Amino acid sequence: MSSALPPSAAIAVIGAGTMGAGIVQVAAVAGHEVYLYDTSSEAIEKGIADIGKFLARSAEKGRMSEDERAAAMSRIHKAEKLEDLAPAKLVIEAIIENLDIKRSLFASLEEILADDAILASNTSSISITEIAARLKRPEQMVGMHFFNPAPLMKLVEVVKGLVSCDKAAKTTFDTAVSWGKKAVYTKSTPGFIVNRVARPFYAEALRIVTEGGADMATVDACMREAGGFRMGPFELMDLIGNDINFSVTKSVYHAYFEDPRYRPSLIQQEQVAAGRFGRKSGHGYYDYSENAVKPEPATAEPQSFSIKEVNFLGDHPLLRPLVKLAKGAGIKVNHWADEETNGFQIEDSFLLLSNGMTATELTKESGEQVVVFDLALDYEKATRIAIAKGDQVSDEILNMMTAFFQALGKKVSVIDDCPALITMRLAVMLGSEGADAVYQGVGTAQAVDTAMKNGVNYPIGPMAWAELIGLDHIHDVLLSLNTFYGEERYRFAPLFRRHLNSGISLFKK
Ligand SMILES: NC(=O)c1ccc[n+]([C@@H]2O[C@H](COP(=O)([O-])OP(=O)(O)OC[C@H]3O[C@@H](n4cnc5c(N)ncnc54)[C@H](O)[C@@H]3O)[C@@H](O)[C@H]2O)c1
Repeated sequence: MSSALPPSAAIAVIGAGTMGAGIVQVAAVAGHEVYLYDTSSEAIEKGIADIGKFLARSAEKGRMSEDERAAAMSRIHKAEKLEDLAPAKLVIEAIIENLDIKRSLFASLEEILADDAILASNTSSISITEIAARLKRPEQMVGMHFFNPAPLMKLVEVVKGLVSCDKAAKTTFDTAVSWGKKAVYTKSTPGFIVNRVARPFYAEALRIVTEGGADMATVDACMREAGGFRMGPFELMDLIGNDINFSVTKSVYHAYFEDPRYRPSLIQQEQVAAGRFGRKSGHGYYDYSENAVKPEPATAEPQSFSIKEVNFLGDHPLLRPLVKLAKGAGIKVNHWADEETNGFQIEDSFLLLSNGMTATELTKESGEQVVVFDLALDYEKATRIAIAKGDQVSDEILNMMTAFFQALGKKVSVIDDCPALITMRLAVMLGSEGADAVYQGVGTAQAVDTAMKNGVNYPIGPMAWAELIGLDHIHDVLLSLNTFYGEERYRFAPLFRRHLNSGISLFKK
């Protein structure tokens, strides 16, 4: 049964900035009387004016009636002092990200609000346990983490601190759901779910670029056109702000006691040092000035090689659309299901789905000429595939493999022979991070996927993607990366190991 606060329950929001104003709007539209407090009266005026503009646009576009708009605006009240928040059953704090200031605010609120009022913080990076620690009623404190822009982003992470009571967490969760949000429970740990599980999306992309595997535009294009993401990692960092992204990265890295998986990148540091914060400063990884030309991703020229017949090796379900496309292109496909590798044999050479080993290693190990290709979320829909040849492999063979994907209607990005290429590497590392979060009780597999799809618009949850790739394949990729780099950053997650052994879905116990 839902224990959502009814619309008759008053809500208080503290902080009228980017997040606070958005949260006020969500609660007011849901039917609550909302009291907004900020130490700056200008911030309150601006916050309410911004809500007014947003709702006026919604009414113009027919998303709400004029009466609904007027009623929602009439439910928003300016609080001149903290005492005005006394009627609130739930107070959501969205002030400056500073532990001491948040602590002292909640200590004052405890004196003003009813004993059973829920104290919620929208903090992105501070421990809920720590904010609550000196309160008289720390069990009433939870995290209620919205995403920017709060009226549009569906996700709310409901964060349980060490002593948060289940009742307060459930009421917060159900209330978020009653406001039309997708809520997930998570534990008070650095980055919660989203800001932790998203780290490899940036970290691995930065590493690929640092090591000359591919340029930024190519990484972004592959993540969009093969990975199905709305934006590539560099485009997204420029949108978020490189200063903010770098500071979240450093905060998560230190909070996890320098786990190498979260290590910030020198490229990030240089960008921030140069003041290249992204779109907001006019320049980030890309130039946003008026006449700037966005760099093009590496795209191979059309190859005239005509391929009549290939052998499809292995039986990876993800690769079946490629077989269908090949047949559609008039190529005869023989199926050699018993092969251990996944991919294609074309003439005497091999085009293999990346298993984490470089094409150079695979060529040496097999004594055959190997080109590796990257993962796509859906090979039928993907418009671009990254490939790389072994250093010993001729350009002629590379051109033949390029021609194969071109015959299937794909653009081809020929990149350097970096281990696990781009989409495979990011997908596997996102899955690993999600798997560790699940194993450590930070959230369920379902919560991880819901969080990533609704908090940062991922096209698929990392856990569902891991199941599509297959835990056995992920095992190979991670072991190869671990061997290649000799680094603990790449490790096969305990949760994956357990489910690989049991054969049970990640979504079941
Ligand atoms: N911006 C985001 O994308 C985002 C996303 C999720 C969570 N958060 C978190 O939300 C919180 C607010 O972030 P923001 O981006 O909205 O900040 P912001 O700077 O836009 O707004 C903060 C507001 O708080 C007010 N304020 C500061 N100290 C105060 C106090 N002691 N009492 C009352 N008001 C006070 C300021 O006047 C300002 O209007 C932070 O904890 C942040 O970590 C931010």
